[in-house]
Amino acid sequence: MDYQDLQKIQKESTEQVLPQQKKVLSATDKIRRKTSNLPDPTHPPMGWKDNKGYDHIFPWIHLPRLHPRNHLPAEASAQAGGDTVIFNAPDKPANQLILGDNLEVLRTMPSESIDLIYIDPPFFSGRNYNVIWGDTNEVRSFYDIWEGGIDSYLVWLNARLWEMRRVLKKTGSIYIHCDWHASHYIKTEMDKIFGYDNFRSNIVWCYKTREFSKRYWNRKHDDILFYSKTDKYTFNWDAKGILEPYSEVTINKYKLKDEKGFYRLVGRGIKGSPIRSAKDVNLKWEKTQKAFKLKAERKELINEVLKEIDNHLKI
Ligand SMILES: C[S@@+](CC[C@H](N)C(=O)[O-])C[C@H]1O[C@@H](n2cnc3c(N)ncnc32)[C@H](O)[C@@H]1O
Repeated sequence: MDYQDLQKIQKESTEQVLPQQKKVLSATDKIRRKTSNLPDPTHPPMGWKDNKGYDHIFPWIHLPRLHPRNHLPAEASAQAGGDTVIFNAPDKPANQLILGDNLEVLRTMPSESIDLIYIDPPFFSGRNYNVIWGDTNEVRSFYDIWEGGIDSYLVWLNARLWEMRRVLKKTGSIYIHCDWHASHYIKTEMDKIFGYDNFRSNIVWCYKTREFSKRYWNRKHDDILFYSKTDKYTFNWDAKGILEPYSEVTINKYKLKDEKGFYRLVGRGIKGSPIRSAKDVNLKWEKTQKAFKLKAERKELINEVLKEIDNHLKI
């Protein structure tokens, strides 16, 4: 990668167009179809500037990233004598573990080259962290106190999200791990950077331990915001090892099978009923049901009257 390549990347970064900040709902709309006016169409993401992106806050340095010689298939790498980083896939080219500020690293990566991004950034927790690591008691630390408050945190994060959007393929997705400290603010910024419509879901990662409060319900989950770059994204929900096997209770419940898969009858107590869900019920039938019920009620009433008359006759 030479200077021209890096300049091209910068051009592609600043030329990225913000998604349309469409009105999800305006208070003046006659028909309220969705929620409210999110994201705010009048403001771009924090720190973003027209034709500049985040360049004016984090200037481009244009230093090429040196590739280690072990970025080779595992065996060739071993022969070359480098340290090889393989994440459980010895047949694939060695992975790369890059140490550095991710903004600088991202700015050396070609556009639309990445399938999936997961980030676990500082959470805006207002604390600095020192962790004693490994046998050598190495101290690893990172800082999570932001002098300019949440604004400076979001500008810092947005500049990186902006580059992440650029490097993602059109079919790619991004997962952002955060928690109550900033998740709602990050969601709003992401709606502006990736587009409200590209928000897919919020994975809630619950944990059992942590604080016990007598003043509020415990904060016992992290949020993982999941966005895709476009509407045509890869989602391997049925890949091997993703889904938990069905429980015995479920297997016992869903015994019937057709070309769409296993199903169960929900018409309680009706043997062999073709009704499997609400969509199998024709609205016309409801009317018939009502008429049927009415007829049955009338019949019951007549029977009661007849019974009364019968009793009278006996007397
Ligand atoms: C919440 S911790 C995540 C820790 C890690 N996921 C783990 O489970 O051990 C945030 C991490 O982001 C790193 N970090 C902070 N700023 C960064 C930056 N600009 N580029 C890359 N990493 C950064 C910190 O060093 C820290 O390790």
